[in-house]
Amino acid sequence: MDVLASGAEQVVFCSDPGSGLRAVIAIHSTALGPALGGTRFHPYATEDEAVADALRLARAMSYKNSLAGLDLGGGKAVVIGDPRTDKTEPLLRAYGRFVEALGGRYLTACDVGTTNADLDVVARETRFAHGRSEVYGGCGDSSVLTAFGVFQGMRAAAQHRWGTSSLAGRTVAVAGVGKVGSWLVDRLVADGADVVVTDVDTAAVERVLARHPGVDAVSDTETLVRTPADVYAPCALGGALDDETVAVLSAEVVCGGANNQLAHEGIAEQLTKRGILYAPDYLVNAGGVIQVEDERHGFSFARAEAKAAGIYDVALRVFEAAAAEGVSPAVAADRLAEERIRSVGRLATIRLPR
Ligand SMILES: NC(=O)c1ccc[n+]([C@@H]2O[C@H](COP(=O)([O-])OP(=O)(O)OC[C@H]3O[C@@H](n4cnc5c(N)ncnc54)[C@H](O)[C@@H]3O)[C@@H](O)[C@H]2O)c1
Repeated sequence: MDVLASGAEQVVFCSDPGSGLRAVIAIHSTALGPALGGTRFHPYATEDEAVADALRLARAMSYKNSLAGLDLGGGKAVVIGDPRTDKTEPLLRAYGRFVEALGGRYLTACDVGTTNADLDVVARETRFAHGRSEVYGGCGDSSVLTAFGVFQGMRAAAQHRWGTSSLAGRTVAVAGVGKVGSWLVDRLVADGADVVVTDVDTAAVERVLARHPGVDAVSDTETLVRTPADVYAPCALGGALDDETVAVLSAEVVCGGANNQLAHEGIAEQLTKRGILYAPDYLVNAGGVIQVEDERHGFSFARAEAKAAGIYDVALRVFEAAAAEGVSPAVAADRLAEERIRSVGRLATIRLPR
């Protein structure tokens, strides 16, 4: 892995043998502000694998934060270990000290394998931990606004595709009804959509069906992608859209909360060729980072929700730009994100008096 050629500004290796901490913090860009991105706690097989994941995720955060209109660059941290057995107070606090040592160039938050409560522990050692519990004035569970943002992106896709932003009477297939997926189902049902769900965790499906008896469930994702639907919403793991899935997908719109939905770059083009409108994942799932970022101003749910509602307008701009430029929405979103990093990031070159 050629770290220096990766485009990242800074990569920090953190080691504390006393607590067992082994972590990598990758700062992709600080052009728009401090690099914000969560801390992933995962049993990577090798150090190289951890570094590659941190670099890939940090870059994605630069694009997500830019398109969300935040004054934030992109970064990400990975802690090497099993979150179920290796996560201890000393380890989290040691990690917090490394975050503090970066002096605010990197702001951390939750990700896969870390919780609000973990960030409360990290925050005992650093001013630069966000995504904290509500009892500490934090934003709490960020999946609430993540789902809200996905819903806004879906409304924009409906507007672009069918000329109405309402999902009433549309069938939406939701793959994965964990935190984000189940909040999304609530929004869709309230809007009058017909919803079909699946999840490998049958208890998660049962919880949704108990709340919404009108929702249908199918046995697995392979069945769901073939189920006649207007919108397909991947809300489970990454790589949901691969060659096989795109070939059989019945929906006209793809819009979901999962990160890294495209198994490879060519998938965006394949979707466009099949006439399927793809709402870029990092654009529509930015409600979570918007919720977390709001902590910097003293958390207000109403303010964060108002900002996340803006995902509707940005998504419409992306769809319109994609159509005008003859590219996929994924390419149009990247271009918009890069343009803001260039044009707003450049302002830091105007020298201020000290
Ligand atoms: N939580 C957030 O604020 C947030 C923000 C941005 C992006 N995301 C992304 O959204 C996705 C969902 O996040 P979450 O917080 O809801 O996680 P979660 O763990 O609460 O939910 C994921 C659900 O997907 C299910 N699942 C896993 N594999 C599956 C499969 N093969 N088929 C069907 N279902 C499967 C799980 O059983 C679980 O119920 C992830 O990709 C995450 O990275 C989450």
